[in-house]
Order: sequence, then structure tokens, then C-alpha cells
Amino acid sequence: MRILVTGVAGFMGGHVAQGLASVGYEVVGIDDLSGGFEENVPEGVHFFELDLRDSEKTEAVVGEYPPDVLCHLAANAREGASQFQPRDVCGRNLMAYANVLVPAIRSGVKKVVLYSSMAVYGDQQAPFDECMPRQPADIYGVNKTAMEEMTEILADVHEFMYTTIRPHNVFGERQSLQDPFRNVVGIFMNRIMRGEPLYVYGDGEQKRAFSYIGDSLPAFLRAAELRPELDGEVVNVGGKTPITVNELIEIVGTECGDVVEVIYLPERPREVTHAYSTWQKSVELLRYEERFGLREGIRRMAEWARAKGPQPWSDERLELPSAKAPHIWLTEEDRQEGIPGKRSQP
Ligand SMILES: NC(=O)c1ccc[n+]([C@@H]2O[C@H](COP(=O)([O-])OP(=O)(O)OC[C@H]3O[C@@H](n4cnc5c(N)ncnc54)[C@H](O)[C@@H]3O)[C@@H](O)[C@H]2O)c1
Repeated sequence: MRILVTGVAGFMGGHVAQGLASVGYEVVGIDDLSGGFEENVPEGVHFFELDLRDSEKTEAVVGEYPPDVLCHLAANAREGASQFQPRDVCGRNLMAYANVLVPAIRSGVKKVVLYSSMAVYGDQQAPFDECMPRQPADIYGVNKTAMEEMTEILADVHEFMYTTIRPHNVFGERQSLQDPFRNVVGIFMNRIMRGEPLYVYGDGEQKRAFSYIGDSLPAFLRAAELRPELDGEVVNVGGKTPITVNELIEIVGTECGDVVEVIYLPERPREVTHAYSTWQKSVELLRYEERFGLREGIRRMAEWARAKGPQPWSDERLELPSAKAPHIWLTEEDRQEGIPGKRSQP
């Protein structure tokens, strides 16, 4: 059976591809290396460096290697920054997905595993349950919502199986340490290694349930199986125990190194305060279990991060720099050109 993994050079895509290849599937991978790293692509995977926004090239690769299963992980997954880079987020989420899904359906795909997000729940009362309506509160969540609905509609009309995964706050080895816009665990570790302060948006009492990749991966791999009971299901996958960002700092500090200072910044616009999910369905359908747990997962990631050493931050300009964006996201060029929103303030 051939499985196409998009986002294969990313953090989760690399782990998923490795897991699938290790149990004997033929794995084809696509990634444009915009957020991932070639070293994350596991050996034995037939890799194409390709931007899924290029529909012609995508069509050619999918046509040449028609997948039985499509695991779609490629994304710009910067939820908090999505309000400030909506065009890139729409292109790398909804449009990229349509570009790979169409040729996959045309070539007879049997099953699609869509990696969606908890962002589809928006600002509802946590814990988020799979039965809750989709009510996204940001541009990233809007894209994941549209991708979920597109999957459901096309699966109904064109008759393929699908399972939608809503992972949450996954961390672990191979995660980018360089992206200043997302992966709070990786950002904190890189700042600690660089001797920089940790920045927290709001008072740090917002709750999240962090999930170590070693715990989530077996459930991710099971989602790719052609089991009828998984067909048409939406499943939250991730940590069972919510903690606050302040508690996370305490754990990361203990496992990774000394925290020089914690600086509290204003809340990010449209950030959901308490975001964590129910996990019972993932246990029932995908046998999710926490073999490592949060502290052991952080310890393992910290060991990996220390071996890698401090990383330079990627410096990318936002499409819509604004005074409402955290000031640490703005570049020198943004400041020189003037920040919209600030100019009108006295
Ligand atoms: N990590 C999490 O906590 C988390 C939580 C919820 C959902 N997810 C979802 O899981 C998936 C994987 O997340 P991740 O943390 O591994 O992210 P990641 O950024 O490490 O991986 C995404 C990969 O997609 C690639 N990509 C982006 N645009 C592309 C394009 N146009 N063409 C080809 N490749 C492209 C990037 O280069 C990157 O390697 C994403 O869909 C994300 O939305 C992740």
C-alpha cells in the first residue's frame, strides 16, 4: 500500500512518515521546506521538494505515484500569526489541500487522513468535545474548518474513506526551534539556550494540554488504517492533563536550563484563553495512551534541543504588520516603515 505524506519534512510529518515506512508501507513525501527541514525526511521515503500551491506540479507527482492513502499534514500552522499573514495561511492550508486532494481523488485514493486542529472549536468552553460545532475564531481555524468540511463533502460525493485528526499542542524532537511565531515549547527552549527572556502573552494562566509526539504518534499511525470504524470520524488527539503556560515554564526551566527572565506581554488578538480537548474518543478508536507524559516528553525534547544547540530565529516579515501584533514579531523594516494602528495613536 502506498501512502502519500504531505508536510513530510515537518515535525509531525517526518515522524508519521517514519512510523508508516517502518511497518512496511511505501511512503511518498511532499514538502516545500518552507517550515520543515530535509533532515526530517526519513530514509526510504521517496521525497519530492514541491510547493503544493503549484497545482500542475502537484498533479504530476500525484499522478505518477497514485496514493492509496493520503495523510495531509502540510500547513502554515501559525495560529496566532494567522491574522497577520492571512494570504500565506490560506494558500498553504486550504488551497494546498485542494491541489493535492483533487488528483488524489482522481487517481482513486481509498482514504484521506486530514490533520486538522483544535482551532476549529474557537472560543467555546473547554474541554472541547468532538460533538461541538465548528466555530473558528482565527484565520488558521477558518482554513482548518473549510478543509474538514471539504473532506466531508468530497468523501460523500466521490466515495473515499476519511478520518480527521485534531491534534493539540504537540511537541518533541525534530520540531522547529527557529520559528518565532509558533511551537511554544520549542520557542522557550531556544530562548533558554540563547540566554534570552521568555515572552508570555497575557498573564500566563491560559490553559493548554501539551502532547509529546511519542505519545501521539501511535494514534496518528492507526488513523491511516483502512478500518471501517474509523471512516468519517473526527478525533481529538493529545494530552489528557491541561496545564497553564506558567506551569509549562516551570517544567521547561527545570528540564532545559535556567530561565533568565519572564516578560508578560499583552494578549494576542483573538487568542483562545483555555484550549484543551476531550481525549476519550482517541482512546476508544485509536488506543491513545500516555507512555511518556508531559515531563518525560519535555525532558527528552530538551536533551535533543541541547544536542542541537541554540538556533537562529527565522526572520520573516508579516503580511500585515500591526500594532496589535506582539512587538517581538515586527522587523526593523516594519518599524522604519511605520506600523499601522500605531500611527493613529496619540
Ligand atoms: N504541532 C502541533 O501542535 C499541531 C497541532 C494541531 C494541528 N497540527 C497540524 O499538524 C500538521 C503538522 O504540524 P507540524 O507541527 O508538524 O508543522 P510543521 O510546520 O513542522 O510541518 C508542516 C510542513 O508543511 C510544509 N509546507 C508548508 N506549506 C507547504 C506547501 N505549500 N507545500 C508543501 N509543503 C508545505 C512545511 O515546510 C512543513 O515542513 C499541520 O497540518 C498542523 O496544522 C499541528
